[in-house]
Amino acid sequence: MTALASTTATQVVIVGGGPAGLMLSHLLHNAGIDSVVIDNRTVEQIETTHRAGILERDSVRLLVDSGVSDRVLTDGHEHAGIALRFGGLSHRIDFQKLVGASCWLYPQTAVFVDLHAARVRDGGDLRYGITDTEVADVVDAPTVDYTDADGSRHRITARIVVGADGSRSVCRPLIDQATQYFREYPFAWFGVMVQAPPSAPELIYARAPEGFALISQRTDTVQRMYFQCDPREDPSTWSDDRIWAQLHGRLAGHDGFELKEGPVLERTVLPFRSFVQSPMRHGNLLLAGDAAHTVPPTGAKGLNLALADVRVLAEVLDRTINKSDDAALDTYTERALSRVWKAQHFSYWMTTMLHHVDGTTDFDDLRQLGELNALVSSEAGSTYLAEGYTGWPQH
Ligand code: PHB
Repeated sequence: MTALASTTATQVVIVGGGPAGLMLSHLLHNAGIDSVVIDNRTVEQIETTHRAGILERDSVRLLVDSGVSDRVLTDGHEHAGIALRFGGLSHRIDFQKLVGASCWLYPQTAVFVDLHAARVRDGGDLRYGITDTEVADVVDAPTVDYTDADGSRHRITARIVVGADGSRSVCRPLIDQATQYFREYPFAWFGVMVQAPPSAPELIYARAPEGFALISQRTDTVQRMYFQCDPREDPSTWSDDRIWAQLHGRLAGHDGFELKEGPVLERTVLPFRSFVQSPMRHGNLLLAGDAAHTVPPTGAKGLNLALADVRVLAEVLDRTINKSDDAALDTYTERALSRVWKAQHFSYWMTTMLHHVDGTTDFDDLRQLGELNALVSSEAGSTYLAEGYTGWPQH
């Protein structure tokens, strides 16, 4: 066994320095609780990985009100609605009119940059680019060992370990007697970053006979778009023309809508599944975000759910550590999962309402159109979408 180069004692060690881990570290700092954040990626790797771009109203409030940054309000774009497009026409769902709320277009990479800057500003202990993380003794006295970039082995001891280490979590398997709930889908998303002006001021979720497409935005000159594809698709074999043909086909219509084209800068196939692990806590180990649950990207709930988890978790840890209320830890799974399952349903529902499954019948196609028509022509139906999309109130 290699000798330890250092041992650090802290109150909370957070495995995973993405948005969930950093937001937790920030909220704990505000509550006077020390934490150390470790991550096997480098800051640069995280900053350049594209993820979804929509923040719920309360995610925006959390960033602004907790003192991370108000850049989301100046550089982000408020979206007061989305369009559902089917049968060759777009139907606007007006969030402000229906529920008095908006969401914000602000990419996850920007959220990460803001959170990282806030932790650096506040003197946070952040250790990126580490390897071989080993979490032990989570029931009694947790330790987390890791190797730094120079090959030295280090130990962190803490009262609490939080696994915010994403869908390939090393913490998740340490939750004893957990149940895992899965749902696979027979399709994936082909995601592209393109150099073009925006085609629309808000997001367009389109359902066409060939399948789903989503038109999202990034800046005045770069746009984000997706279309449903086979999960085994190799994006590197797709020419720009073939990509545009797919997008044009799925956005075609009778209302003069025009999709603006340009060079494809990046192409990836995104995994697509629903997953929940319960419980989210074992002893002094608690999971947050993708480490505990995954949603398909339709509806952009992933980051928002992770931020909702850490909001609850910061409060639970404040009670546990600052108020010696040990029963607080017992409340975490139930509080977090009640929102997780609402979001699981919402993401599944938006997915199945808009995607095409090979081998289905005319009945299924017409039923799907019936559902969309019922939704856009009913205030009750549209309100459910608006409420879920902008985010259910937090409690
Ligand atoms: C995105 O802009 O990347 C995005 C937006 C909405 C989604 C998924 C992804 O539902």
